[in-house]
Amino acid sequence: MCGIVGYIGKNRAIDFLIDGLKCLEYRGYDSAGIALKDKKMQVIKSLGRISELENKINEMSVIDAKLGIAHTRWATHGVPSEINAHPHTVGKVTIVHNGIIENVEFLKKQLLDDNVLFKSETDTEVLAAIINKYYDGDVLGTLEKVFNIVRGSYALAIIFEDKDELYAIRKDSPLILGVGDGEYFIASDIIPIVKYTNQYMLIEEGEVAELTSSGINIYFNRKKIKKDILKTSVMSQDREKCGYKHYMLKEINEEPIVLKQLIDKFFDYIKDFPKLSCYEEIHIVACGSALYAGMIGKCLFEEYTNIKVICEVASEYRYNRVLYDRKTLVILISQSGETADTIAALRKAKKENIDTLAIVNVKESTIARESDMQIYIEAGPEIAVATTKAYILQVAIMGLLCYREIGRNEKLDNELGRLPRMLKEIIDHRDEYKKLAKKIFNNEDIFFIGRKIDYAMALEGSLKLKEISYIHSEAYQAGELKHGTISLIEDDMPVFAIITDPDISDKTLSNLEEVKARGAKTIVISNELINDQLLQVVVPKVSAFFQPVLVVPVLQMIAYEVAKLRGCDIDKPKNLAKSVTVE
Ligand code: AGP
Repeated sequence: MCGIVGYIGKNRAIDFLIDGLKCLEYRGYDSAGIALKDKKMQVIKSLGRISELENKINEMSVIDAKLGIAHTRWATHGVPSEINAHPHTVGKVTIVHNGIIENVEFLKKQLLDDNVLFKSETDTEVLAAIINKYYDGDVLGTLEKVFNIVRGSYALAIIFEDKDELYAIRKDSPLILGVGDGEYFIASDIIPIVKYTNQYMLIEEGEVAELTSSGINIYFNRKKIKKDILKTSVMSQDREKCGYKHYMLKEINEEPIVLKQLIDKFFDYIKDFPKLSCYEEIHIVACGSALYAGMIGKCLFEEYTNIKVICEVASEYRYNRVLYDRKTLVILISQSGETADTIAALRKAKKENIDTLAIVNVKESTIARESDMQIYIEAGPEIAVATTKAYILQVAIMGLLCYREIGRNEKLDNELGRLPRMLKEIIDHRDEYKKLAKKIFNNEDIFFIGRKIDYAMALEGSLKLKEISYIHSEAYQAGELKHGTISLIEDDMPVFAIITDPDISDKTLSNLEEVKARGAKTIVISNELINDQLLQVVVPKVSAFFQPVLVVPVLQMIAYEVAKLRGCDIDKPKNLAKSVTVE
């Protein structure tokens, strides 16, 4: 969950490195560092945000160097500190690393026996020491030896003191190579690169990239191989906030646009895909919000297609004993396409020759590349750590896949045509969400309840709120609350009830009465007006396939307004990272 960048070429490296770190800050932001190499190597580091690092740049005597690497960190091994920040230099080797070295203790013991002294607590410094131990001037030979003994995940940019080239290598962690005009780039994802070039190369596990001032050489088993130069459709303005105060608000407001784009092309795009009914069982596997989108899919698929569906969190699925005893489709949902647990679940299914379908936003990602079939969310780059537009499109795709199964009809096609406009009108009701937020932003505990598909929405509403406002929040099956947890309900404690399923709305309303009787401040999010509810938000009633697309943005906006009132760092919440590329 860190961000790494590297540069070699005709211009100053520092300009791309700082700009690139700012683009990647959403991947981790507890400390940062830069190494520049001219006639000599120079490294600066700082605790905190990139802006802290920028304040130190002018101390560098090699500021005009044309070769450099940089890193923004989300601490895994070792606390956030300047000494633990990357780059790490041992002997002739300087590296920045995204990933986790799993056999770090074994390697460190070997090195301590060789009297190597370590300054930091990081696995990355151990990795630099191992590379330095084997380094004899032959880079390819060195890296081959090292990565035969190192276990874990890594995306690395490496500078050797006695070389004028830049090297990159990866396993499990993401890395992209940018191909510019007389300048070449390394980055954890495509965003930092698109301002400089739309051409890029992918580097596969086991390959070594050598970036020189005149081009990029890729080696596999020490032999130079040919690699395609690809073009990305991501535009550089996608990196900007376009006048919004936060990326999260910008990305929520993009939801109607990207939803319309998805609806307009979905049925044509998917026409050659197998129908879900070709399978006897569906496993939906994901993490976080993507998992909650999958839970909505489970409710819809089971309700309308009679296919048995398991929806499981990837970090459990990857280790559980999974019985693939019938024709199964494993659907992996992921915005980044780099979530380590979801990748592991994908690989588990592929090892059993099970069909895999990825519903993924980032086309150049590992999950996109390794799955059998892909539905690209195409929400555009999502910069805010809290997912909004990508999640909404994941949910929309669940509904569209289900709708496709039952056969299209004029009524639902018309509803689909109106959905983006309805969504825009809902998002534009900001004053209503601001008023609601004012009533709850000082609370420190908030509950969300719902049944069936409403519970899946409650889970997402709760996650959105807690991850950006730091308010403790829980989502509960409405009928389950009274089996213990209701003891936590206090006077004035806000309880949101999501009520959209008419078959069980009375049940949830009676659960709401139970908490109201214990002092709770109840807020209903529904698709029909419920008379005796003082605080409620009503969205247009549409078919079950698409109702979540209109409900969850209300919860996103309320979470946004609450976090704003609490003065939180909405785009980069503490302790989080956009892509959890370690398990
Ligand atoms: C949601 O707001 C969080 N950012 C997080 O739960 C996220 O959805 C989860 O980590 C999965 O990420 P992915 O979609 O990139 O796989």
